[in-house]
Amino acid sequence: TLYDFGMIGLGVMGRNLLLNMADHGFSVIGFDKDAAKNNALEAAATPGTTVKGVSELSTMIQLLERPRKVMMLVPAGQPVDDVIASLSPLLEPGDVIIDGGNSHYTDTLRRVQQLREKNLHFMGIGVSGGEQGARTGPSIMPGGDQEAYAKVKPMLEAIAAKVKGEPCVAYLGKEGAGHYVKMVHNGIEYAIMQLISESYTLLQQGAGLNNDQLHEVFKSWNQGALQSFLVEITADIFLQNDDKTDKRLVDVISDKAGSKGTGKWTSQDSMELPVAVPTIDTAVAMRTISGYKDQRLEAAGIYKAPESTLHVPAEMWIKQVHDALYFATILSYAQGLAMLFEASKDLKMDIPLPEVVKVWRGGCIIRSTLLEVFTQAYQQRPDLPNILLDKGVAYLLESVEANTRSVVAQAATAGVPVAGLMSALSYFDAFRTGRMATNLIQAQRDYFGAHTYQRIDMPGTFHTEWQHHE
Ligand code: 6PG
Repeated sequence: TLYDFGMIGLGVMGRNLLLNMADHGFSVIGFDKDAAKNNALEAAATPGTTVKGVSELSTMIQLLERPRKVMMLVPAGQPVDDVIASLSPLLEPGDVIIDGGNSHYTDTLRRVQQLREKNLHFMGIGVSGGEQGARTGPSIMPGGDQEAYAKVKPMLEAIAAKVKGEPCVAYLGKEGAGHYVKMVHNGIEYAIMQLISESYTLLQQGAGLNNDQLHEVFKSWNQGALQSFLVEITADIFLQNDDKTDKRLVDVISDKAGSKGTGKWTSQDSMELPVAVPTIDTAVAMRTISGYKDQRLEAAGIYKAPESTLHVPAEMWIKQVHDALYFATILSYAQGLAMLFEASKDLKMDIPLPEVVKVWRGGCIIRSTLLEVFTQAYQQRPDLPNILLDKGVAYLLESVEANTRSVVAQAATAGVPVAGLMSALSYFDAFRTGRMATNLIQAQRDYFGAHTYQRIDMPGTFHTEWQHHE
């Protein structure tokens, strides 16, 4: 018998996606050079499902139904090209190769074109939700040609997370669009994680909450407007005991934050377009600053913290921090979605934003109840350039704006680093300002470099011989 779907790379993600597919009635086959991983795959299969692991790539290819559908889940970069090099000679026109990893969209674009010459379909697909999501229902962000998508749609729809009966997968645009959307998803993920960590320090310093209390606060937040995967796991984290000491694990984890680059890519690409995503930029920068451990310890000995500390009644402070986190979380989505709006046009990817927010409602790391709000916003206006222009979103922001300002002001006075919250508020204030102070920048540019300027009262381009005054 021939198999419906093949997987290259049987790490946890690859294995779990295959098992998920098998649970939905598809026969699946995986290839990994490591025989132990093949055995692990077969051993983990649900009884009655058709799952096979092989350690020869050509064996897997021979055993696949045509047109073949093969996904690879290998580290981004050279490994993907290496797999393509060994795989493509074994395939036939019409077969579909899927890269389900976090590849950079420009690499995906190059590979799509390279394989098109061989009449092979190459699709870049973003998969989010971690190990558990892969096993039980990830959020899936496919891009590429529609013809190839039609061939894998039934499998992807079967394994995706479901929200209100709808699968969290949809065709998200041409060429590298799938990986582009996943990159921006990760940028938003970085921003929200930074904001949650700022809320954590504000609650500790402002209300003196211990880990048990922090757990309770995040747990209750997860039952309200902030309901989201990241808030939910944050609540869990505060309760985890360390197995090496009698402390809570979170208290013995080093504050140096790692990253694999997708957040940085989002910032880099935003500059290329250009589009402003300052809260994502800030999140990337804060992870970088977290790495300056020795310098920070030295600086802590040089600079005294401000005299004033946060002092607000605990109950009130918790509510204010909640509102600030809610406000800045919306701003993070707004920046990321505005980036997709621009990139879609600029890079001719035709990314359907109403579908993107629907796909993000379930399975992925940034899933949250807010995605329902955005889904409604795009239903009303599919070409919305920025969700801040939606009346429903505006109403939500207005209800928490005053508390956000209060938290940011108090954090600034007390010297608590909340760059994410500040950047969100600053973006908002600039965005809602009809006339910014950037007229002065234009004057300066024209003064020293004859860069010209436009006027508000008449058309045309102007230059002035600016007068120097003693
Ligand atoms: C997901 C995640 C995942 C990502 C990790 C690690 O959607 O499941 O985005 O794809 O690789 O979050 O990212 P960093 O190591 O850069 O924090």
